Amino acid sequence: MLKPLSIGKLQLKCNIFIAPLAGYTNLPTRLVYREQGAGIAYAEMVSAQGLHYNFNKSVTLIDSGENDSPLGIQLFGSSRETIVRAFEVIKNEKFDVVDINCGCSVKKIINSGSGASLLKTPDEVYKIIKGLKELTDKPVTLKIRSGWDHNSINYKDMYYAAESAGAALITLHPRTKTMLFDGKADWSHITELKKISTIPVIGNGDIFTADDAVAMFNQTQCDGIMLARGVMENPFLVEEIIARLENRLYIPRTLKNRLYSATLHCKALIDYTGDEVKAMVEFRKFFKGYAKGGKGITHLRQAVNQTVSYSQFVSLIAQYLEYSEKEEVEKE
Ligand SMILES: Cc1cc2nc3c(=O)[nH]c(=O)nc-3n(C[C@H](O)[C@H](O)[C@H](O)COP(=O)(O)O)c2cc1C
Repeated sequence: MLKPLSIGKLQLKCNIFIAPLAGYTNLPTRLVYREQGAGIAYAEMVSAQGLHYNFNKSVTLIDSGENDSPLGIQLFGSSRETIVRAFEVIKNEKFDVVDINCGCSVKKIINSGSGASLLKTPDEVYKIIKGLKELTDKPVTLKIRSGWDHNSINYKDMYYAAESAGAALITLHPRTKTMLFDGKADWSHITELKKISTIPVIGNGDIFTADDAVAMFNQTQCDGIMLARGVMENPFLVEEIIARLENRLYIPRTLKNRLYSATLHCKALIDYTGDEVKAMVEFRKFFKGYAKGGKGITHLRQAVNQTVSYSQFVSLIAQYLEYSEKEEVEKE
């Protein structure tokens, strides 16, 4: 299950992928998952139109840095023309793979003809991939849903279009556009895709635990797995999955260790943004994943949600740990 994987000429040390996640997979956050052994991480999707009309703002979404490789970037756009034009201006940025978003179901994106709207036009996806292949030697990949709705499941058509245009890999999140995140991902679509595909198939959807990861590999025979909400909820999911796939005993981190790791992640976000207040506000959504399972932890989370100061954040954690250690001693 756990193994190196080639995407075109690119060699990944392992087949655990970190999904593109809008608002989440910035540089410091990708590094958190890379340190645990992820084989590749994607930056959040970036608008092809945005790159054309507001380059400076959009290009920050694919900022990279030391130790941040291999890096996938993902573009969303409605046509070959828009996507190829955007790619021209970023093709020399630091990244290793370019992915086309054919799954995003957010209204604004759909209304612009991008994301999951492309599921309706496999021919255009063929042209997009062909167009990108003319501009770069880097692998071009795509990430799709199963279809627009349950009456138009067409992941196989999407695959044939992409593969014949030269795509190097396909990731399938087997829900339809209309399902958004409801119901369960239908992993049988990944199994079916794997049967016909000549390029690596990455299974995505509902992997929240190491058991889920093993089940995804076993049920679908996929070439790799992509983690999304699982790592948002549990920032240490990658190391847990890798331990399981290597048949190693995994000892979950203590709450103290998780909170300490949270301070490091938060500090890295501040250094990255150069704006303490902004980073502290942004970090609140990440903190939820770290601060779980201790007595009175909800109070700590509430207090952290009120602060915009890193030093106060660190003292809130110290106070919490002191209080919970005292409680432990009194219990004994
Ligand atoms: C907050 C959030 C942001 C997302 N952003 C992107 C994105 O930028 N590009 C993309 O292809 N999918 C995006 N997705 C979808 C995920 O990559 C993934 O396909 C989906 O969440 C299913 O996987 P999961 O069940 O493991 O979460 C996003 C999902 C969430 C919850």
